[in-house]
Amino acid sequence: MGTEHRQYRSPDDFMLVGHFLISHFQPGNRDGNWLQPTWEYMHSLPYLDESSLDKIRIWEDSGEIVAVVHYESRLGEVFFQIHPKHTHLKQDMLDYAENHLYGETETGNRFVRAFVNDFDFELETLVKSRGYEMAEQYARPISEFQIPQKFPPVEPPEGFHIKSLADDNDLMKIHRVLWRGFDHSGEPPAEEIEGRKKMQSTPNFRKDLTIVVEAPSGDFVSFCGTWYESVNKIAYVEPVATDPDFRRMGLGKVAVLEGIRRCGALGAAVAFVGSDLDFYKSIGFTKRFDSKCWIKHF
Ligand SMILES: CC(C)(COP(=O)(O)OP(=O)(O)OC[C@H]1O[C@@H](n2cnc3c(N)ncnc32)[C@H](O)[C@@H]1OP(=O)(O)O)[C@@H](O)C(=O)NCCC(=O)NCCS
Repeated sequence: MGTEHRQYRSPDDFMLVGHFLISHFQPGNRDGNWLQPTWEYMHSLPYLDESSLDKIRIWEDSGEIVAVVHYESRLGEVFFQIHPKHTHLKQDMLDYAENHLYGETETGNRFVRAFVNDFDFELETLVKSRGYEMAEQYARPISEFQIPQKFPPVEPPEGFHIKSLADDNDLMKIHRVLWRGFDHSGEPPAEEIEGRKKMQSTPNFRKDLTIVVEAPSGDFVSFCGTWYESVNKIAYVEPVATDPDFRRMGLGKVAVLEGIRRCGALGAAVAFVGSDLDFYKSIGFTKRFDSKCWIKHF
């Protein structure tokens, strides 16, 4: 049996793709594929377009997944997950993406934003040859943090408390810190609280690894989700946000460090984050690579 491709079937393929990503992970994320927790986090996003999941495409060789092409939250974004022995599939995957995963502008023009790792010269050459242009501002950096075996206790500033959602899963407070932390002004719209429940619904979401910093008022003012992938012993940090009224007080840093510390205690040796912000550099993350965004309008 040769390589064949087929439609993504939700929800069964969610697990199968996750296993594929775990199986082919290489230290330092040298494989260049998404981490399993990134894939899982995508499925917990309140704004994920679930109606288009069947447009995700899976390639199989003798019944084993060898490649997946997909979007993250909306059609138009294209990500490539590829087994290292099946790199010849890139052209087929891009053909498929251009025909089925494209997005449409308000005026009805089709576009594709293909994400290509900066060390994947084969795929970069392919997109360039088809007229794609790099959009530097949409690059997705991947950074890594070596988790020390002896992790010092994480101390919040005076008057603040570090908690996890296992201690206090107050959805209104969670909704508020994520709303304000991602720079939306004012108070969060009450009806969007269902989305916060969805963020806790995937199989490896753990309340005890989802950290909040509580202010003296009792509000949550900083938030850090961490995910532990036990096969490769990696932690993944997402999402992270601090209420704008409480920034530059060291709260984001303690939330992230506490999440990583807890993953380290479970066995994680490294943590990854999809960012190269100075904030992460100050914690000790170093950039591994960029997933560059290449855009084509059709
Ligand atoms: C990024 C973010 C989480 C930082 O939270 P924070 O609680 O303000 O961060 P901390 O106070 O713990 O900062 C720790 C260190 O990180 C660095 N840092 C934090 N914010 C920074 C900024 N805006 N510019 C440069 N360095 C920054 C500094 O070195 C800082 O130490 P210092 O204040 O002593 O100089 C916050 O700005 C935020 O919520 N941004 C919007 C959401 C977001 O971008 N999340 C990350 C997505 S991956």
